[in-house]
Amino acid sequence: MNCYVLLQFLLGLAQLCSCHTVMTNSKRHEMNQPLPSNLRTKRSWVWSHFHVEEEVTKAEQHVGRLRSNLDEGDASLVYLLSGDGAGSIFTINNRTGDIFAIKKLDREEKAYYKLRAQVINVYTGKPVEPESEFVIKVLDINDNKPQFLDGPYETSIPEMSPEGTSVIQVTATDNDDPSQGNNARLIYTVLQGQPYFSVEPTTGILRISSQMDREAKDQYLVVVQATDMLGYTQGLSGTTTVTINLSDVNDNRPIFQLGLYHMNVSESAPIGTSIGIIMAEDSDIGENAKMNYSIEDGSDVFDIITNNETQEGIVILKKKLDYELQRQYSVRAKVTNSFIDKYFPKDENSGQTTVIKIRVEDADEPPVFSHMEYSMEIAEETPTGSYVGTVFAKDPDVTNSPVRYSIDDCTLFSIDDSGAITVIEPLDREIAEWHNITITATEKDNSQQVSEARVYVQVLNVNDHAPEFFQYYETYVCEKANAGEVRD
Ligand SMILES: *[C@@H]1O[C@H](CO)[C@@H](O)[C@H](O)[C@H]1NC(C)=O
Repeated sequence: MNCYVLLQFLLGLAQLCSCHTVMTNSKRHEMNQPLPSNLRTKRSWVWSHFHVEEEVTKAEQHVGRLRSNLDEGDASLVYLLSGDGAGSIFTINNRTGDIFAIKKLDREEKAYYKLRAQVINVYTGKPVEPESEFVIKVLDINDNKPQFLDGPYETSIPEMSPEGTSVIQVTATDNDDPSQGNNARLIYTVLQGQPYFSVEPTTGILRISSQMDREAKDQYLVVVQATDMLGYTQGLSGTTTVTINLSDVNDNRPIFQLGLYHMNVSESAPIGTSIGIIMAEDSDIGENAKMNYSIEDGSDVFDIITNNETQEGIVILKKKLDYELQRQYSVRAKVTNSFIDKYFPKDENSGQTTVIKIRVEDADEPPVFSHMEYSMEIAEETPTGSYVGTVFAKDPDVTNSPVRYSIDDCTLFSIDDSGAITVIEPLDREIAEWHNITITATEKDNSQQVSEARVYVQVLNVNDHAPEFFQYYETYVCEKANAGEVRD
């Protein structure tokens, strides 16, 4: 009983031992070197380290041999096999203990088989050794190619990133045994994408090897290959693609489409009139293409506002123009990026300029009175045709059209082409002290061009109860009266 337990313990030890130790024991046995006497009786199972190659298509592959050193070769012992694949994958020659693999094995499917061995005395039917477990290891061959399980990749980096910038790490896996030679030792290379990209051979980190400009090309397709056997030609390989989109940085300034713009504006244009549009172009996109327009050194007559939707600059009138005073203006417009980037030297951030020449167009303007209001006086009862006062209006245009005048109250007052106002009949202060009249000036060449002035006529008291000497019975035709209309 004690002896049995000890045996089991020793067997366990043997299994824990490294291959080397077992091999040594086995060799020692083969060379017929006597084992130390204390071991000889207790250690009776003898076998070498078992392994079997995968992917072998032979009908039978010899795996190894189970042996008990109690076997005298007299055919009294029978070897039995049980456990993983016993009978179906592995068979044993009962007499010799030779184990064979009878199926093609795939290490990547199953790398170890745990089996148990028994040796039985055919005469007694009893085990001569305690049942023992052993392992058959499937040896790897390089039958798996590297695979990029996470590919294809897509990523984005800013354009103009410096050389050496890390872009992405790609990883391939190889199902072969990493401990078996170089079967699973991968080397990464760039198949397509040079000279802009390179890959670190062992880590798969993709880096920039040459600066790229988004405005020249905004997308790159890089093909990375992983090869096992440390990249040697007999190695197996797999590839993946990395799509790299360049994101924009502000590396372009806005530039005016034209170096000189011509615009026209009527002198009659009201303040706020948009006179014209200027536009610059920026090769960048998004925020980086945003720009601001302004008038360099400012101007009290013109302004430029930026239309953020269209990125246009709108030239606006800030002050009334007068063709007769100034017929042409020249302003310098400036455009700058709204968001300045480190990619420009400071002096380049000042922006680009263009010249706008603005021609003022003469407008047909209405006559202009010398005053908006006139005050006049006349003594009451002055005779018909007496002079009251003079108004004056002039066409401000270069054409200087002659002006004629008219009066709204044509029963009491009359006005001639010189603007002189006279009374049609003597005025009676007792009837009205004030005659507030409106004079209209009309251009003779264009009756659309009219303007008005107010005239306040005060009748002065001279002699309250002067006798009436005579009365006029004359007929006047008001200027504004319709043809055929008669007044008295
Ligand atoms: C005419 O104008 C004068 C001076 O502005 C004013 O005192 C007077 O009341 C006005 N009369 C009428 C009838 O509008």
